[in-house]
Amino acid sequence: MRVSYHGHSVVQINTNGKTILIDPFITGNQLTDLTAEEVKPDVIILSHGHNDHVGDTVELAKRHNSLVIANFELATYLSWQGVKTHGMHIGGAYQFDFGKVKLTQAFHGSCIETENELIYGGMPAGILVMSEGKTIYHAGDTGLFSDMKLIGERHPIDLAFLPIGDNFTMGPEDAAYAAKLLNPKTVVPMHYNTFPPIKQDPYQFTELLENQNGKVLVPGEAIDF
Ligand code: NI
Ligand code: MN
Repeated sequence: MRVSYHGHSVVQINTNGKTILIDPFITGNQLTDLTAEEVKPDVIILSHGHNDHVGDTVELAKRHNSLVIANFELATYLSWQGVKTHGMHIGGAYQFDFGKVKLTQAFHGSCIETENELIYGGMPAGILVMSEGKTIYHAGDTGLFSDMKLIGERHPIDLAFLPIGDNFTMGPEDAAYAAKLLNPKTVVPMHYNTFPPIKQDPYQFTELLENQNGKVLVPGEAIDF
């Protein structure tokens, strides 16, 4: 299994011969090393409906016939755009051919933004991907919450991606506390430096960690299991 980081909250997982992209915000993402032309996801998993997470989903899914996994409301909306979807919801897991996916809670908003209206985008979520005996946790956008301890207890986490940007999500100090609750083997910061309000030093975050192995991944860098 290979897990790579691509700037903002974009994470790619290669497992069981499939390419899975989480929150593929590529066009307009100045930090990403990817181009929308070259990525070929078999599966796209979305944490919530905000533009900096849904990103290129519709175009990519149509071009590559990718399966889009998202909360029920967002999945239904995307299915109306002609995309193949699988709706799920918080607390629910499903065994796909590449591995198991479970949505977990996240404290944030979720909507689809049009020119002058906000369409309800269901509850925002965190994402657990369980495959090849490993568990990857992508927290989505969220504030700190104490049930992160429960998530880590129920599903011992090998690799966690946590937002550290502050303003819209946890900042470095809360994210370091989240890492303590989740207790993953390795924790990687995400959702920082893309926009001025979320400017952070990721090394300041990894220095705050106590027992977790913090690892800053530059866009394009991967962890192999
Ligand atoms: Ni968001
Ligand atoms: Mn976001």
